[in-house]
Amino acid sequence: MQIDKQKLIAYYADAPEDISLDDIDLDSIPRHVSIIMDGNGRWATRRGLDRAKGHVAGVDSLREAVTTSVRLGFDVLSAYAFSTEKWKRPKLEVDLLMSLFAKTLIAELPLFHQENVRLQLFGDLEALPEETYRVFMRGLEETADHDGMTFALAVNYGSRAEIVRAAAQIAREVQAGMLSPDDITQDVFSSHLYTAGLPDPDLLIRTSGELRLSNYFLYQLAYTELYITDTLWPDFTRWEMLRAIRSFQGRSRRFGGV
Ligand code: FPP
Repeated sequence: MQIDKQKLIAYYADAPEDISLDDIDLDSIPRHVSIIMDGNGRWATRRGLDRAKGHVAGVDSLREAVTTSVRLGFDVLSAYAFSTEKWKRPKLEVDLLMSLFAKTLIAELPLFHQENVRLQLFGDLEALPEETYRVFMRGLEETADHDGMTFALAVNYGSRAEIVRAAAQIAREVQAGMLSPDDITQDVFSSHLYTAGLPDPDLLIRTSGELRLSNYFLYQLAYTELYITDTLWPDFTRWEMLRAIRSFQGRSRRFGGV
């Protein structure tokens, strides 16, 4: 995406000591950055607060991450908001997250309009509570014509289920005679994933120091650079994003070549 340099410089004023906008190359910004947002609960517990407060603080971080991503000119920002495994959490926490998703989406629609951001959702949305589902559909509809950055949220998402779903869809197409097994290429397979049409992530950020993928984008991350930070999600700021990009730009991506 096009970068508005003036806005970007203003956004990144007041730099801390270790990082500034000058440390990154604006000509090689990753196209797609994906985030496993982790550590809301620990952030709250460390402050003696209820876990719910951590999720509310997490929403503030996500809002900043969306704005930061627009300013830096990403094509896509994606984030893992709720895995299929998270239903195992106490019902009270699950209910809180679901209503937070709905409330946040409505509250943030003006930001999406202002910044020309298109919303996309990955996951089994039909299993979500009715209100959350309804609001999500409204978000998709209202932002469908935006042609700026895509903000994709994985909700009730699991990567293995996504891969199995793609395989089943392809099998149905073969069975219906629409596709020959010999025509199943990586591109055809990718086009049956939720991420169809989007570039694979260049950079995956995981907060709170955990060293695992947690059933996220197992197919899409084949050549993605990983950036794991101990920072808990509610503490992830625009400066953390710059540190992640600086790290990304310091690597040599060979995609298996030499
Ligand atoms: C991890 O914290 C994060 C989540 C449970 C995802 C929820 C994300 C948000 C509330 C921010 C995004 C909001 C919207 C509207 C999409 P954790 O509870 O796993 O933390 P812990 O590992 O410390 O327990």
